[in-house]
Amino acid sequence: MVSDTNRTNRPQPRQKAFGELPWNAAAITRPLLAWYRRAGRDLPWRRSRDPYRIWISEVMLQQTQVERVRDYFQRFLARFPTVDDLAAAPEPDVLRAWEGLGYYRRARQLHAAAGQLVSRHGGIFPHTADELRQLPGIGRYTAAAIASIAFNQPEPIIEANSRRVLARLAGYDQPLARPRDEEPLWQLAAAVLPQRSAGRFNQALMDFGAIICTAAQPQCSACPLAGVCVAKQQQRVTEIPHLPAPRTIRRLRETAFILRQRGRLLVERRQPGEWWEGLWDFPRKLPTGIKIAGPRHQVGEVSYTVTHHQVSCRVTLSEVSARPRATRHQRWVRPNDLATLAMTAPGRRIARLVTPR
Ligand code: ADE
Repeated sequence: MVSDTNRTNRPQPRQKAFGELPWNAAAITRPLLAWYRRAGRDLPWRRSRDPYRIWISEVMLQQTQVERVRDYFQRFLARFPTVDDLAAAPEPDVLRAWEGLGYYRRARQLHAAAGQLVSRHGGIFPHTADELRQLPGIGRYTAAAIASIAFNQPEPIIEANSRRVLARLAGYDQPLARPRDEEPLWQLAAAVLPQRSAGRFNQALMDFGAIICTAAQPQCSACPLAGVCVAKQQQRVTEIPHLPAPRTIRRLRETAFILRQRGRLLVERRQPGEWWEGLWDFPRKLPTGIKIAGPRHQVGEVSYTVTHHQVSCRVTLSEVSARPRATRHQRWVRPNDLATLAMTAPGRRIARLVTPR
């Protein structure tokens, strides 16, 4: 906990134990909350304390930038306004609404959690982080975010932004490679958390990390906490936090086959173990039994990145003279019907090469 005997705001020599700050917590919480009142972002999920909206936003924000989430959030809420609507929807509809956000496991778990919320909790969100963590897709961070923001429970959070802010304030320079390396920062977050403004404080930390205490170009000259920041005092702001080097990106080349017969196109569902499991795309190998009539036209090239790979995909279009029956994971669809399928991000872009917008 924050030491009660140490109420000075002057940085002390480097501390050994974490979960301890060299000044009292108010030296951080007051300026940070004041900054948040002035400069906090107006985000659509902040306009109410509805736990459903907060939950959806937090799951979307797990791997996606705030600006991108704004639009998706509004559309998703228009499509599934309540947890009952989400629970009642078929999974493919949920995946379709998630299309473009990536990490589709999140959408599947969201749907599964909505089912449990309705069947086991009568559609009412539990208020505590421990109970929230029992739901699919809700881990330590998300449970604490919902509990603090929707129910003002005194739960600390650590995600990329708050981790950076707290590590710098405390001068925490130990490597952060595995989740358990972050434990001292969770303790620190708990130590500074103002018990009665936990939700606002957590959001303030995240906005502050996104706007002022950024990774590459921190605005220390505009920072209301510069006077109490150990990293700043030691001139090590961009060295802290100590994160692993990003993984190197591998380049891949591939070909996508648009196969057409009597106006219908062949799509395949991605299988377990493949990228975008469960979503539809055009084949990357010529399926057995397909007979191609006439030339293969190159219709474009699509580049995309997916988990440490940069892929260049050549797209060809061929007319098929005979087609075997589609397997369980294949469908011959009319181009207009592609709009109703949940497709991979490159699959959607490939589809646009042959369908009018
Ligand atoms: N990143 C994750 N959750 C967030 C939130 N509630 N506000 C701002 N950034 C976030």
